[in-house]
Amino acid sequence: MASVPSLEEKVRLLTGETSFTSYATPSLGLEAITFSDGPIGIRGIAEPAPTAAQLPNPSAVAAAWDREFTARLGALIGQEAKRLGVDVVLAPVVNLQRTPVGGRHFEMYSEDPVLTADTMVAFVRAVQAEGVGVCVKHFVGNESETERTEYVARIPEQALREVYLAPFESAVKRAGAWSVMAAYNRVEAGGEIAQATDHGFLINGVLKGEWGFDGVVVSDWLATKTTVEAALGGLDLVMPGPGGPWEQKLLAAVAAGEVPESVIDDKVVRIARLAQRVGKATDAAGELSAGEKGLDTPAEPATRPSDVSALLREAVAQASVVLRNENAMLPLDPGSVASIALIGPNAVEPFVQGGGSAFVNAPYLVTPEDGLREAFPEAELTMHRGVSSRRFAHPIDPELVTTADGEPGYTLELLDADGDLVGDPLVVPASEGWNRGVADDARSAVVTARVTLSTPGAHRVEAGLSGIHTAWFDGELVSESDEFADANVILDSSANHPIGPSTVVEVADGETKVVEIRVECQVVDAAAYGRFVRFELRHDAEAQSDADAELEAAVSAASAADVAIVIVGTNEEVESEGWDRQRLALPGRQDELVARVAAANPRTVVVVNAGEPVILPWLDEVPAVLWWWLPGQEAGHGLADALTGAVEPSGRLPWTLPATEADVPVPDAVPVDGVVEYTEGVHVGYRGWERLGRVPARPFGFGLGYGTWRLGIPIAAEEWSPDDTLPVTVALTNDGERDARGVVQFYLSGPTDVDGDGGWDRPKRWLAGYAAQDVLAGRVVALTLRIPRRAFEVWSVAAQRWVLPSGEYTIRAASDARDPGQTVTIAL
Ligand code: BGC
Repeated sequence: MASVPSLEEKVRLLTGETSFTSYATPSLGLEAITFSDGPIGIRGIAEPAPTAAQLPNPSAVAAAWDREFTARLGALIGQEAKRLGVDVVLAPVVNLQRTPVGGRHFEMYSEDPVLTADTMVAFVRAVQAEGVGVCVKHFVGNESETERTEYVARIPEQALREVYLAPFESAVKRAGAWSVMAAYNRVEAGGEIAQATDHGFLINGVLKGEWGFDGVVVSDWLATKTTVEAALGGLDLVMPGPGGPWEQKLLAAVAAGEVPESVIDDKVVRIARLAQRVGKATDAAGELSAGEKGLDTPAEPATRPSDVSALLREAVAQASVVLRNENAMLPLDPGSVASIALIGPNAVEPFVQGGGSAFVNAPYLVTPEDGLREAFPEAELTMHRGVSSRRFAHPIDPELVTTADGEPGYTLELLDADGDLVGDPLVVPASEGWNRGVADDARSAVVTARVTLSTPGAHRVEAGLSGIHTAWFDGELVSESDEFADANVILDSSANHPIGPSTVVEVADGETKVVEIRVECQVVDAAAYGRFVRFELRHDAEAQSDADAELEAAVSAASAADVAIVIVGTNEEVESEGWDRQRLALPGRQDELVARVAAANPRTVVVVNAGEPVILPWLDEVPAVLWWWLPGQEAGHGLADALTGAVEPSGRLPWTLPATEADVPVPDAVPVDGVVEYTEGVHVGYRGWERLGRVPARPFGFGLGYGTWRLGIPIAAEEWSPDDTLPVTVALTNDGERDARGVVQFYLSGPTDVDGDGGWDRPKRWLAGYAAQDVLAGRVVALTLRIPRRAFEVWSVAAQRWVLPSGEYTIRAASDARDPGQTVTIAL
C-alpha cells in the first residue's frame, strides 16, 4: 500500500540507482524501471551481456519505406525487451543524417524528416504495444559526434521546427512515446543557449507545453551538468546513477527555495506514469493515469514471430538496395553458377553492427560464406580477403598469452596512491581487456604479459591502452602518455578502440619468439560507468604479408570462377558512436580490389557492407552493386536470398549517395568555435543537393529492386478529408516478368518565399509521403497516399505558428528524389 513519500524519496527517484535502473520506491508503489539500449536489439544490463536478436541497422529498416515491415521489427524489439527484463528501450534515434560523415549516421533512419518520422511512428507503436516503453533520442540537435558534449547546435528556427523537431513532435503526437532522451550537446533556440538537458524553452516550452508530452525526459548518459537549471528546464530523470548533479544537491536546492517542490512532484508523477505504463507500478497509479491521452492508445500487440531468424533473414534481404544491375545480372540463378569466388575484407569479416551503445551480443552469425554455400550447394566456392581494410590488429588468441610463470592470461597488479599493492596480484584471461570494478583506492596498475609466437611469418602484436601510461616491449620503452583519462573516454568511444604501442616480430621456421610486455597505467574512473584498467592485447599473424600477392590471388580466383562476389565496406573502426568520420572513401585498397576483380571477371557482383555512405568510384563500371547495410545476425542468409531473388532486395536509399566528397553540401560536422551552424537551414540531405544543382552517384530514394515500373498520372482529391489529409491516388504498373515490390514516393514543390514577406524558405522539392506495395507481374494497383496538411505547411517565424502558404503546389509521384515522375498540380 502506497504511503506519502518523503521529499528525500522523491528526489532520490530522479537519479538512477545504477547505470541502467531507476530506484524502486515502495511508498509510491513503484518498482525499479530497467532501461537498455538500443535500436538494433536489446543490449541487456547483465554482465556478460545476454544474447539477443540482432537486427539490421536503423537506416536499413528505413530503407524498406514500409511501416508494416518496421512494425514487425519493432514488435520483435518489444518482445525481446520483455524476455530480457527490460522496461524501456533506449531507441529509436531520430536525429537526422545531416552530413554523411556523422558518426551515428548508421543508427539514424534517414536524412529526411518525413521518412524518419514515419519509420519511427511505426517502430514506437509496435514496441509500446508490447507494454515496453521507448526513449526517443537525442532531443535535439545531436547530428554530430565531434565535441558532442560541448558544442552548441545553432539551428535556424524554421529548420528546427520543420526538420529537427518534427520527428520528436510525431513521437509525441502520433506515436505517444513514453520517454524522450535529452541530448549531450547544447542548443540555441527560443533565445536560449543551454545544454539540451537544461533547455527550458525546448523541454518545458515546446515538448511538454506545446505538444503536451506527458512522459519522462531522461538525460543522455552523464549528460546532465547542472542542478537547478536542469531541474527547472524540465529534465525528469538523471541517468546513469548513483551520483551526478541532483541527489543531495537537488534536495538542498529545494530546501533553499531554488526549485519548487511542485517541480519535483511533476517529475515524480511522470516517472510513476512511466512505471505504470511498463507494468512497474503496484498500486499508486490510479490518479496518475488521468494524464493518459487517447493519442497514445497503443497499436494491437503483434504475435511473436514464430521464427525470429526467418524474420531477420527476410529483413536483411528486403532492406538491401540494388544500386546497379546491368543486363539483369541479378538475381543469380543457382543452377547456372558452377563456381563462386567470394572476395573482400568484409566477405571474410562481415561488419554486422556499428560500434558504441547500440552494440548487441547476437546469438550467432550467418556469414556470407555460410549463406552462399546453402544457396549454391552445387557451386565450388573459394574465399579470399584480397586486401586489408583495418588499422588495428584483432583481439589476440588467448592461447598465445601467459604470465611470466607460464599461467594462461596476464598479470594485473593494482596500486594505491602511494604505490602500494591493493589486494593480491590477479591473473586475468587475455580475452578480458576491460578489468572493471577496480577498488576505490586503486589509482594505477602494472600489467605484465608474455606473448609466445611460433607460427612462421610476420606477427603484429599491439596493446590498446586508455589514459596515462608507460609501456615496454622486451624491456624497450615503446609508448608513453601523460593524458589523463576520465568518463570522456567512454563518451568519445576512444576506450572502445584504444590506441597503443605495436611491434612486428618475424618468426622463422621452427623458431619460437616471445614478446615480454610491461605496462604501467592509470585506473580510469569513468563516474557512473565505473572504474577500470583498459588493456587490450591484439595480434595479427599475417602482418606485412605480401599485400600485392594477396590481391593477385584474389584476382586470379575471380578470373577462374563463374561469378565473383566482392564484399567491400567499412568496419567498427570507421562507423561508431563517439566520433565523426574524416573521409568517405572505403578504407584500404578496396577500390583497387573491386576494379581489378571486375576487370578479371565480367560476372562480378559488388556488395557494399556499410551503414553510412561511402564513395564508390567504380559504381557505374561494374555489372551489379548491392548495398547490404550492417545486416545483423542473419547477414549471410539475407545476402544469399537477395542475390538469388528468393526475396527481392526492394530497399530504396534513405539518404543521398555522393559521387565525390567535394560535392557533399554539408561535408563535415566539426564545430567551429564550439558552434555547429546549420547554415543549410531547411535544405537538409537531397534538398541541399537539389538547391546546389549537384548530381549525386545515386539520389535519395533510389533502388532498382528486381521490378520494372510504370506510374500513372496522380489524381488529387478536390478537398481535404475530415482528418486533414489530402488523398492522392496513383496507378502503379508492374511491367516486369517477376512479382515485385514497388515503392512510390510523393514529393511536393510549392510557393517559395525566400526571405520574402512570409519570412520562410522552402526546398525545391520535399518528400510528403510514400507507399510500398507488392505487385504481381503484369498487374496494376492503385495506391492512395493521404498527404497530411502539415506536409504543405511552413513554420512561420514571424507568426510563430504553422501556416499554409496559398498558391500552386505540384505533387510528384516518383521513384526517387530526382525522378521527374508523374505530376499533378493543385491550387491551395
Ligand atoms: C548514447 C545513448 C545511449 C546511452 C546509454 C550514450 O552514450 O548517446 O544513445 O542510449 O549512452 O548507453
